[in-house]
Amino acid sequence: MSAAWWQEGVIYQVYPRSFQDTDGDGVGDLKGIEARLDYLVDLGVDAIWISPIYPSPMADFGYDVADYCDVDPRFGTLAEFDRLLAAAHDKNIRVLLDFVPNHSSSRHLWFLASKSSRTNPKRDWYIWRDPAPGGGPPNNWISDFGGSAWEWDESTGQYYLHAFLKEQPDLNWRNPAVREAMYDVLRFWFARGVDGFRIDVLWHLIKAEGLPDNPPNPAYHAGMGEMHRVQQLHSTDQPEVLAIAEEMRKIADSCGERVLIGEIYLPLERLMHYYGRDVAGVHLPFNFQLLEAPWKAEVLARMIAEYEAALPSGGWPNWVLGNHDRPRIAARIGEAQARVAAVLLLTLRGTPTIYYGDELGLGHVEIPAAWVQDPRELREPGLGLGRDPVRTPMPWDATPNGGFSTAVPWLPLCSDFADRNVARLEQVPGSMLTLYRQLLALRRAHSALSIGTFALLDASSAAPDVLAYERRHGDERLLIALNLGSTPRELALPAWAHDARRLLSTVESGDSRFGSGTETGTRVVLGADEGLVLAPSFAPEV
Ligand code: NOJ
Repeated sequence: MSAAWWQEGVIYQVYPRSFQDTDGDGVGDLKGIEARLDYLVDLGVDAIWISPIYPSPMADFGYDVADYCDVDPRFGTLAEFDRLLAAAHDKNIRVLLDFVPNHSSSRHLWFLASKSSRTNPKRDWYIWRDPAPGGGPPNNWISDFGGSAWEWDESTGQYYLHAFLKEQPDLNWRNPAVREAMYDVLRFWFARGVDGFRIDVLWHLIKAEGLPDNPPNPAYHAGMGEMHRVQQLHSTDQPEVLAIAEEMRKIADSCGERVLIGEIYLPLERLMHYYGRDVAGVHLPFNFQLLEAPWKAEVLARMIAEYEAALPSGGWPNWVLGNHDRPRIAARIGEAQARVAAVLLLTLRGTPTIYYGDELGLGHVEIPAAWVQDPRELREPGLGLGRDPVRTPMPWDATPNGGFSTAVPWLPLCSDFADRNVARLEQVPGSMLTLYRQLLALRRAHSALSIGTFALLDASSAAPDVLAYERRHGDERLLIALNLGSTPRELALPAWAHDARRLLSTVESGDSRFGSGTETGTRVVLGADEGLVLAPSFAPEV
């Protein structure tokens, strides 16, 4: 059976507020994404996932949706979306939207109706409860952004549930009318031609019957977000949510080759349930392990092996290095290792998702206090939870505002944008951008890297700090060796890789050694922070 596009392909996350502004308001827009499609083609990605573009009061920057079937005027119009979709498809780029089913905006007409009276037909579309017998919120659930997850509504004398901001009331997915309305949203966008969805906080959709208190978290300490005071045992990951994932999958499958990606932060074993039980669930439950894993060869080797082993039969793997909620990879492990991480992301088995700007090596961007926008930071300041530093404008060139906008952008650019920008980095051999382009081209040229099997190299032959593995498809066999340390390391090669050619190195700069590469002999020396892709010398050059 041939692989589906979402198995072979590479996904690129666009944070639309920060990609390209064309109307001079300091906020990116759909026309801006369209204008940059050729960049994405040259980069070599296959699909973009665009974070929410729907009408929204922007309390949580689009994750508070006021109308699921339209486009926020800040981003453009439905007609502009259709144009972007058609232009992307013309260039063979698939487009995924962000589906935010757990909660709407408190300004959504559904919530306004629900809140208007206890007898409104939409009352039960959200989760309303009386105060606890002694007064106060109905239970001890805590919002992911800190504080009680319950908000008191004076006019109807009940509390409503919000797992995030009070401006993001949770929908009641136990109500069949809610399900149907939300499934209609999927159908609406599928009919327009979108290729799939990333599903926001999929594991949150169903809460335990009776809404019992969550147990305290013994590992909680000040310095963590307040949400960690309790374990989200009853507020998330209920068995009934899997039936919803299966229903969404049926809708997606009835529309052709579409993809559903579930945002799910859960331990491995629970994550795997979202692939589905007897019936298929989401195609790709996001695998976020690389976002937090200690950057050590033996830890990563174990993590990859456990993930591979845990996959259900037919379950396709996926890997993520960054997103709009978590620190940038270059900020976490430094730029030299971020290059190694790029090789890892793009040579592991499974669909990779690249976060915009990681291909430029964007690191932590300092946000002056007066500029802070993220409600997460504003509500629990100083804990390092703020997400503004990873949502800053894409630096396209060295002109004022980095070519992102003619106006002052909504968040500052990285301070080194005069050097770290697309126009410059694409001219620099060996830059992060060049490396990403080479990796993506290599992946396209060698199906072993996209759909091949995966095997870790016998740990006993691996040097300390070295993570090495094989990808194989048909006659093609490639070896990937990554030095996660800053000391050169020597690696004994398996017999099949003796006298291998270097197809790519993170520390060479597109010079004569690239591609035609020196041969290795029976061992290879990896320089400090070096990642290598090797091919047996008898393999045809691509
Ligand atoms: C997860 C999203 O990625 C995050 O940005 C958002 O704040 C929450 N879900 C709430 O929708």
